Amino acid sequence: MRFLGLFLVLTTNFLYAQEGRYEFKKGAYDGIGKWYMQREISHVMGYQGMSWLERDEREKEENTSTLLKNMKISDTDDIADIGAGSGYHVFKLADMATAGTIYAVDIQDEMLAAMRSKKLEGKIENVALVKGNEKSVNLKPNSVDKVLIVDVYHEMNFPYEMMASIKKAMRADARLYLIEYRGEDPNVPIKKLHKMTEAQAVKEMKVIGLELEENIVNLPWQHCMVFVKS
Ligand SMILES: C[S@@+](CC[C@H](N)C(=O)[O-])C[C@H]1O[C@@H](n2cnc3c(N)ncnc32)[C@H](O)[C@@H]1O
Repeated sequence: MRFLGLFLVLTTNFLYAQEGRYEFKKGAYDGIGKWYMQREISHVMGYQGMSWLERDEREKEENTSTLLKNMKISDTDDIADIGAGSGYHVFKLADMATAGTIYAVDIQDEMLAAMRSKKLEGKIENVALVKGNEKSVNLKPNSVDKVLIVDVYHEMNFPYEMMASIKKAMRADARLYLIEYRGEDPNVPIKKLHKMTEAQAVKEMKVIGLELEENIVNLPWQHCMVFVKS
């Protein structure tokens, strides 16, 4: 009986572990087995998927033009695109905020290299490339008016630390545009861990001190959730 008890304790510890605010247990094939606030975190999309980010049908599927209009960008806005990838939104933002700076943050060198090529090719001066890490965006405090996070939050390995770092970079009246595929909608053809519900996002932002100002419901597949400092 004692052996059975010991076996059960060891097995449970092996299958389930907790480290601070994160839990570790077996989950979906595309998850990393790490959970935050009852949500399993997905794998980071590797740079090998860059062509998917640049696909021709993206404008039709995601209506990026409407998303950018939702951001009500003024020409002097300083904007951070977190998890900027190949820069799909970065260079559109650079055209709109001509007197501001677009900070294009990513953790993969290959993504930063792709954006560097575009920046050099187009002689674009108002884009600053920033190498972040899993816990920090490496931006100065109070340095941005707007933050854009498209299809990235669900794959951040340290969502709490990342959001705390993003909040620090936001000016007092800054707006954060959190764009995630709608988890409530079974018709959105995206894998479960790569989607998110509004309720989950609101819960996760609340612990950081960010509150939902509005969810703009005009994109075909995604939430366009606008958060402000609470
Ligand atoms: C699915 S891609 C989206 C790229 C871009 N936002 C877009 O919509 O085209 C996710 C990107 O987020 C980056 N990423 C993941 N975790 C990150 C983190 N903690 N900080 C910065 N970038 C991150 C990945 O390297 C990848 O380039």
